[in-house]
Amino acid sequence: MSRIVLGVGGGVAAYKSALLLRALTERGHDVRVVPTASALRFVGAATFEALSGNPVSTEVWDDVPEVAHVRIGQTADLVVVNPATADLLARAASGRADDLLTATLLTAHCPVVFVPAMHTEMWLHPATRDNVATLRRRGAIVLPPAVGRLTGPDSGPGRLPEPADVAALLQVVLDGGTLAHDLAGTRVLVSAGGTREPLDPVRYLGNRSSGRQGWALARVAAARGADVTLVAANVEDTAPFGCRVVPVGSAGDLRSAMAEHAPAADVVVMAAAVADFRPTAVADTKMKKGSGSEPTAVALTRNADVLAELVAARPEGQLVVGFAAETGDADDDVLGHARAKLARKGCDLLVVNDVSAGQVFGRPDNAVTVLAADGTVTTVPTGPKDLVATGIWDAVVPRLRTRR
Ligand code: CTP
Repeated sequence: MSRIVLGVGGGVAAYKSALLLRALTERGHDVRVVPTASALRFVGAATFEALSGNPVSTEVWDDVPEVAHVRIGQTADLVVVNPATADLLARAASGRADDLLTATLLTAHCPVVFVPAMHTEMWLHPATRDNVATLRRRGAIVLPPAVGRLTGPDSGPGRLPEPADVAALLQVVLDGGTLAHDLAGTRVLVSAGGTREPLDPVRYLGNRSSGRQGWALARVAAARGADVTLVAANVEDTAPFGCRVVPVGSAGDLRSAMAEHAPAADVVVMAAAVADFRPTAVADTKMKKGSGSEPTAVALTRNADVLAELVAARPEGQLVVGFAAETGDADDDVLGHARAKLARKGCDLLVVNDVSAGQVFGRPDNAVTVLAADGTVTTVPTGPKDLVATGIWDAVVPRLRTRR
């Protein structure tokens, strides 16, 4: 359990802070809500008090004997401001302490995360950009806003990320993962999920990939500033904030989507589980039992190796990251097989999952080893898939800089 201060700014997106509060308490954290006076015009103090089980105040004049404006910040493990309005970012950047939230920001020794939400014009204004740069320079994490529908009919960058995304990213910070703005300006293409190879209009051959590790890689890359395209094979989950999603079904669809989007990418991550084989013939109508043509076997045809094709066609400077789910056997151990695969596929990095004990599929936790073509081995220990994603990006980022 961690002690989290949830600062709430006065924007209409304040209503989503109640859902974030709920998500954080469900993860077992003790949350103290510190809204601004304007935030309470959007959501009442009673909502925050009931959901957090803690008192709510906005002014340094409440609870004076406890010296709350100093104590709340000093004792927190994490401060998150959600939503962070343009005004709140300005007040934080200039070091104001004119209410309980800004005073708390000045006394916090822990990581501080701002989750901005405002109109696009305000987000893009040089004053806001300078304030964000100042806060980042001082060590605060300022997440990029999502792109989408804003208050009223307009849309663009400035939307508050969904509470589930924010809660997952805050857990990364609490677990010690990096959410630096180090992928800014980087175009990332991630494939995730598992392909389905049709047999007839209702049946397919599939695999057990949940897409969660690819989702986490996309979400963390977006949080670290990347421009992310996510080619998603049969994943039902809500798209992570900040990512353009291209839905695909079969290995053939995935191959076309990757070929279309890869030329513009600085990094390509092939986290999808791509079927190696597809049924040679796809029936136009449902195969019926008892009919004269009842099938007795399914003939299979080899699919293209998408990763190998991407490596062969990659533009100068592009980094290609493959995945491998391996088991040890009589011929070699997991890393031995993985090294051979890295050499065979020709990618720059290979993220290796040991699936010997059937772990990984559909689980919230993962552990991987990242092998680099230069022989470097990085172990990313067991943790939630978003934390593992930060470990993978930590291995990618230094290689990007040297290639650009
Ligand atoms: N991959 C791909 N196209 C395929 C099969 C796999 O692009 N037809 C990619 C996966 O997305 C992953 C990597 O190749 O990034 C390794 O996948 P894996 O299934 O472990 O490798 P295979 O080449 O199928 O090797 P094998 O089944 O022989 O272990």
